[in-house]
Amino acid sequence: MTEPTRLTIILGSAREGRYCDTVFRWVLAEIGSSTDFVVDVIDPASLDLGSLGRGNGGESVAALRQRIDEADAFLVVTPEYNHGYPAALKAVIDSAYIEWQAKPVAFISYGGISGGLRAVEQLRLVFAELHAVTLRDSVSFPIPWRRFGANGLADAHEERKALDMLLARLLWWSHTLRSARLAAPYAEVAA
Ligand SMILES: Cc1cc2nc3c(=O)[nH]c(=O)nc-3n(C[C@H](O)[C@H](O)[C@H](O)COP(=O)(O)O)c2cc1C
Repeated sequence: MTEPTRLTIILGSAREGRYCDTVFRWVLAEIGSSTDFVVDVIDPASLDLGSLGRGNGGESVAALRQRIDEADAFLVVTPEYNHGYPAALKAVIDSAYIEWQAKPVAFISYGGISGGLRAVEQLRLVFAELHAVTLRDSVSFPIPWRRFGANGLADAHEERKALDMLLARLLWWSHTLRSARLAAPYAEVAA
């Protein structure tokens, strides 16, 4: 039997009163009791952002790098801030380097009418620099506060279909890249 994928969900917002929690809760409920994934959650709101950053030797950076290292795949749940991504998310990303390499990253985004897609497009450039592999598939929520209510996401058929496809492909990439990393450590390629 294939080992479950260690999926690390990274929240993009550290803002007080953030909408991120609503979108994250939906994603987590959809992943639900899937035996394909074991989920870890990195939440910048519970980190000392000032101490983050590559080269900082603090305990919190070491612990964060360890968690990123142990992950097989990443799902970033991010809003759009000023046509980009939040600084808190960048602080998390910049805290590690080789730990990201040859691992798949997928995105769930939200925001105004753009659904956070401008943040996602910029994040693709950032993760390319880290030798991570971003998925073409994403799920985006334009103006999500008009869709989510007390009973969760209204009329969720399309988003559920998109998320199922994203997770299936993320699983494929995580199995493929995990085997590849084991067969030949990425750091030794072109060393
Ligand atoms: C600093 C800031 C900048 C924003 N800039 C944009 C933007 O450029 N485009 C957009 O669609 N929404 C923008 N928004 C709206 C956010 O995407 C929306 O408020 C979202 O809920 C923020 O996520 P959060 O509540 O989880 O922090 C911005 C919000 C904030 C706080």
